[in-house]
Amino acid sequence: ERGGYPHFMLKEIHEQPKAVRDTLRGRVAEDLSGVTLDEIGFDEAFTKSVDRIHIIACGTSWHAGLVGKAVIEQYARIPVDVEIASEYRYRNPIYTPNTLAIVISQSGETADTLAAMREMQSKGVRVLAITNVVGSSAAREADDVIVTWAGPEIAVASTKAYTTQITALYLLAIHFAHVRGNLNDAGVHELLEALAALPQLAEQVLDTAPQLKSFARRYVEATDTFFIGRGIDYAVALEGALKLKEISYIHAEAYAAGELKHGTLALITDGVPVIGIATQPDLYEKTVSNIVEVKARGAFVLGMTWVGNDDLEKTVDEVIYLPKTLPALAPIAAVIPLQLLAYYAAVARGNDVDKPRNLAKSVTVE
Ligand code: M6R
Repeated sequence: ERGGYPHFMLKEIHEQPKAVRDTLRGRVAEDLSGVTLDEIGFDEAFTKSVDRIHIIACGTSWHAGLVGKAVIEQYARIPVDVEIASEYRYRNPIYTPNTLAIVISQSGETADTLAAMREMQSKGVRVLAITNVVGSSAAREADDVIVTWAGPEIAVASTKAYTTQITALYLLAIHFAHVRGNLNDAGVHELLEALAALPQLAEQVLDTAPQLKSFARRYVEATDTFFIGRGIDYAVALEGALKLKEISYIHAEAYAAGELKHGTLALITDGVPVIGIATQPDLYEKTVSNIVEVKARGAFVLGMTWVGNDDLEKTVDEVIYLPKTLPALAPIAAVIPLQLLAYYAAVARGNDVDKPRNLAKSVTVE
């Protein structure tokens, strides 16, 4: 059942090209002229009227939501708040009459996410669920649903669900931007072309596995590690850190690179492993200057950037090159090496990769 892989997690990491492809299937017009989201019942008037979006989720699904905020704001210019469900449900959020809520849940059964969703519906807010389980509570109760076609995810650590959730959010962002006139046909075409290439990109990044396996040896004895990045790379850093904590049990922190010197830099000492994510050309110089700061304190840095940008080799100890894509689409390729790193670090430490201690696949208690 593990298809020849030693763990479900490794199998599911390798299934990502297919999962992303399946999530795009039938939703991108063949001539790249637009997005079809037949499942959602929004008409044009509603799509144009939305003036605020609240994205609610937990854990990895929340991290996908952070990427969603970046792309929806960039392309559709709708303000987005992203919040952890267990926080959101206990406060008194402010809705406009045209607020749309998006809940993201792989299982569709996470107690806090469902409670937040019910709370919003009771206030008359329209809720769209992005879920991987067709018959789940979230799918049944939401007003609209976008299914991620990742297939069953067995490993507790979420991998292919995350990349397909992001894929669904890209489709939604492009759809909103197109209908609302923020993107013209040429802009839609360019984005959809890049989106259609993502499965292929994911395939290519899987080839970094041997490099990550060897880098993961540094984590056998490590006690602390940091993931840094700016913008959308910070969202990916949060996911990389969670993955590592969850299955390798190594303390990991994600930091917005520019925020390090406001406290956390004090923890960077000789030999501390740091992952520096630099996939955004606009932010590249700024991120590199933060990487230089951790290097100056003795950190051992693994950098990630787009292929062809050899410049990073001057600053870091090792580089992972990611295939080129539009900056907004970088997270799908960038997260895969981080999933592999967490996987190989957990294996090297002899942990139960698929069933980490203290955790359940579906958190149905509050
Ligand atoms: O099923 P959900 O997407 O609602 O689950 C949310 C989180 O419990 C989940 O993403 C968790 O953070 C993962 N184990 C992380 O790998």
